[in-house]
Amino acid sequence: MIFFDEKKQIWKLDTPNTSYILGVVDGKYLAHLYYGAKVADTDLSYLLRLSEGSGVPSKNPAESVGFMDGLPFEYPVSGRGDFRESCISVRNAAGQEGLELCYVDCEIVQEKEPLQGLPASFGENVNTLKIRLSDEVLHLSVILSYSVFEDVDVITRSVLVCNDGEQELFLTRALSACLEIENENFEVLSFTGSWSREHIPERQKLLHSAVTAESFRGVGGHDGQPFLALVSENATEDAGKVYAMHLIYSGNFYGKAKCNPHEQVRMVLGIQPEGFCCKLEPGETFCTPEAVMTFSGQGISGMTHTLHDFYRQHLIRSKWKFAERPVLINSWEAVYFDFTTEKLLEIVKEAAMAGIDLFVLDDGWFGKNRNQPSGALGDWFCNEEKLPGGLKRLSEEIKKQGMLFGLWFEPEMISEDSCLYREHPEWVLHTKDRRPGLCRDQWMLDFSNPAVIDYLYEKMEKVIDEAGLSYIKWDMNRGICDVGSEYLPADRQGELLHRHVLGVYELQERLIERFPELLIENCSSGGARFDPGMLYYSPQIWCSDDMDPVERLSIHEGTAMIYPISCIGSHVCKSPNDITGREVPFATRGIQAMMGTFGYELDITKISEEEKRAIPEQIKAYRGIQKLVQEGDYWRLASYRENGLYNVYMVVSKDKKSAYVIYMQVLARPNTKSRRVFFKGLDKNQLYQVSDGEKTECFRGDVLMQAGYLFPHRQRDFVSVFLRLEAVEDEI
Ligand code: GLA
Repeated sequence: MIFFDEKKQIWKLDTPNTSYILGVVDGKYLAHLYYGAKVADTDLSYLLRLSEGSGVPSKNPAESVGFMDGLPFEYPVSGRGDFRESCISVRNAAGQEGLELCYVDCEIVQEKEPLQGLPASFGENVNTLKIRLSDEVLHLSVILSYSVFEDVDVITRSVLVCNDGEQELFLTRALSACLEIENENFEVLSFTGSWSREHIPERQKLLHSAVTAESFRGVGGHDGQPFLALVSENATEDAGKVYAMHLIYSGNFYGKAKCNPHEQVRMVLGIQPEGFCCKLEPGETFCTPEAVMTFSGQGISGMTHTLHDFYRQHLIRSKWKFAERPVLINSWEAVYFDFTTEKLLEIVKEAAMAGIDLFVLDDGWFGKNRNQPSGALGDWFCNEEKLPGGLKRLSEEIKKQGMLFGLWFEPEMISEDSCLYREHPEWVLHTKDRRPGLCRDQWMLDFSNPAVIDYLYEKMEKVIDEAGLSYIKWDMNRGICDVGSEYLPADRQGELLHRHVLGVYELQERLIERFPELLIENCSSGGARFDPGMLYYSPQIWCSDDMDPVERLSIHEGTAMIYPISCIGSHVCKSPNDITGREVPFATRGIQAMMGTFGYELDITKISEEEKRAIPEQIKAYRGIQKLVQEGDYWRLASYRENGLYNVYMVVSKDKKSAYVIYMQVLARPNTKSRRVFFKGLDKNQLYQVSDGEKTECFRGDVLMQAGYLFPHRQRDFVSVFLRLEAVEDEI
C-alpha cells in the first residue's frame, strides 16, 4: 500500500509488517524519514531534526554544503557537498562531475513493470511508486522506483537514468539503492568464502570504518554475495532488527555500510563503480539492477523467511519452481573427462534401476579434444570420436531406460585450441596488443557483441533440440579480466562488464523462450554465481563443488540464510570425497543431500550392492519431503559452524501440519548424553507423530518447541538423523 500526502510531499510505503517513509525537504530534496516496523502515521519528518542544525538551504544558503552533508538522502549524488557515499556520479562534456537532483513529480502505478534486459521481480499485488528527480543543469532525470509487495515484507528499488539534454554524458556510478538510518549499535552481516567454501556468513560490529561487500570478478564470486544487512548488536535467530539489501544482479557488485560521526548509517548497494562508465547519448537511458530491501523485527529467521517467500513467489519464473524436480545423476565426479558411450550407459542403466530421473553428462562431450580443460570451449557440437553415434544415439539409449537427458555447457568461454578461436580470434576479450590471461586454460568471449550471442544461441539450440534435452547446466569457470572488446568503441569500453551480464541474461532468456520446459541449473566453478539474478532464469543453482556433507553444513547454512533451499543444488557424493578425502557413511551423505535439489554425483556402477539398494529408499524419502523443500519455512536450529559439534535445521509446511528435521552429529564425543534441541515453527497445540525411521513417538508442538527433543548420542562420527513430523488427531 502506498500513501501520498500531497500537501506535505511525504510518501509512506506499507508492506504487511513494515513501513518505509520518505519525503521532500525544502521543496526539492528527497530524504529518507523512516524504515522499520509498521507505523500508522505518515509524517515523521520531525526525525530529520531540521530545526537543530544549520537549517535548510532556502533559509540559510550560506550553509548549504553543511545541509548536504547531513540530510539522509534517498538517492545521494556526488559533487555537491554530501561527503558521504554517493549513489550516482555523472561526468559532463567538460570532464567534470557533480549534479543536484531535485524533486519533479511522482506517479503511483498498480503494477510492477519488467526491467529492460534485466531480471526483475514480478507479482499481482504490487504497487509501484515512481519519483522523478532531475538536474536542471545537466538535463538529466532520474526515476526512482519503489515496488511495494502486499503479501511479503519486501520493497524493491531500481533507478532509471535518462539523458534528456543535448550533450553526451558519462555515468560513472549508478547504484540501485541507499538506506540511511541512525545507528543502533548495528553489526553488519555479509558473506565470505572461496572455491569449495562458498557463502559463509560473517558478522562484524559497525564502527566508523566502512564495511564493504563487493566483487571485481565479473561475477559475484565465491567470496561474496551482492548482499549487506545491518542487524541489531545481539540479534539472534528470533529477535532483533535486520535491515537487508540484496541485488538482483550477476556481475560486479558494490555494497557499503558506513557510519558517520553523527551515528548516521548509510548503506548502499548496486553495480560496482570501479571500471564502470556508461555513455549516455542524448535520449539514452540506463536502468540499474533491482535491489530487494527487507526489514525484519524478528531476527535473522524473519529475514530468511521473507527472502525465501519473496524469491519463490516473485522472482523465480521457471515452470519448475513448484513442480517436482527430477532427481539427477551427474557424471562429473563419477568419470570426469574419462568416458565412453558404453561407460555412460552402464551408469544410466544402474541409475534408471535405482529410480533416478535424469542423467546429466557434464564436461567433456563436445569439440575435438576435450579430455582436459584446455580445449574445445566454444565448439558446441558432439565429439563423435568419443561418443560414436553422437548425442542422438546416447539420448535414445537414455530415453529407452526411461530417463531424461541433460548436458553441461560453458557458453561464455573460448579455448585457444578450438575451431571457434581459429575462426573468430576477435571474439576473445582482450586489451589492445596484450595477450589475455588464462584461467583454467580458457578465455572469455565478448558477450557485448550480438554476433557472439547469436552464434551461441544457434549452437545450443541445435544441441538441445537434437538431443532432446530436459536440462542444461550452465557453467562459468573463471573471473573476467582483460576487459577489452573489439566490438565496442573506445568510449563504451566501460560498459563491457555490464554488457557481459546483459548478454548472459539475453541468451538464457532466448533459450527459455524457445524451450519453456527446459530446466536450467546455473553454476560457476561451484557457487561463484549464486545470486538472485540467476534465479530469475534457473530455479536451481549449483551451490559448491564441495559435496562433502560436513563441509556442506556451513555452505548450506550461509546459502539458505538468503536463498530458498529449493534453489540449492545438492548431491550425494562419493566416499572418500574428492576434495576433502573424508569418508562419510552413505546414509549420512543421502540425508545431507536433502538440503536442496537432490541428486547423485558418483559412479553408481562402483558402489556396493547395499548402497545401491539404499538409493530407491533415499529417493522415496526425498519425494516425501520435496513439497516441503519447495514451499516450506526453513528454520536453523543449531549451527555446526558456530558450535563445532552438531548441526540441525528443520522445514515446516505453511499449514504447520508436516515437517522434517535433519540432525547431524559431526564428531562423536566421549561421555556424552543425548542432545536436546528446541524445534521451531510448529503449531503449539498440535499433536505430531515424530518418526526417525526406526521408532515413532507423539509430541505436542509446544513440547517440541519449549521442552525440546532428545537426539541420542552415537559412538560414531558423521551420524545423521532424518525425522519426519506429521500432524495427528488427538485421541479423545
Ligand atoms: C566446474 C563445476 C563442476 C563441473 C566442472 C566441469 O568446476 O563447478 O561441477 O561441472 O566445472 O569442468
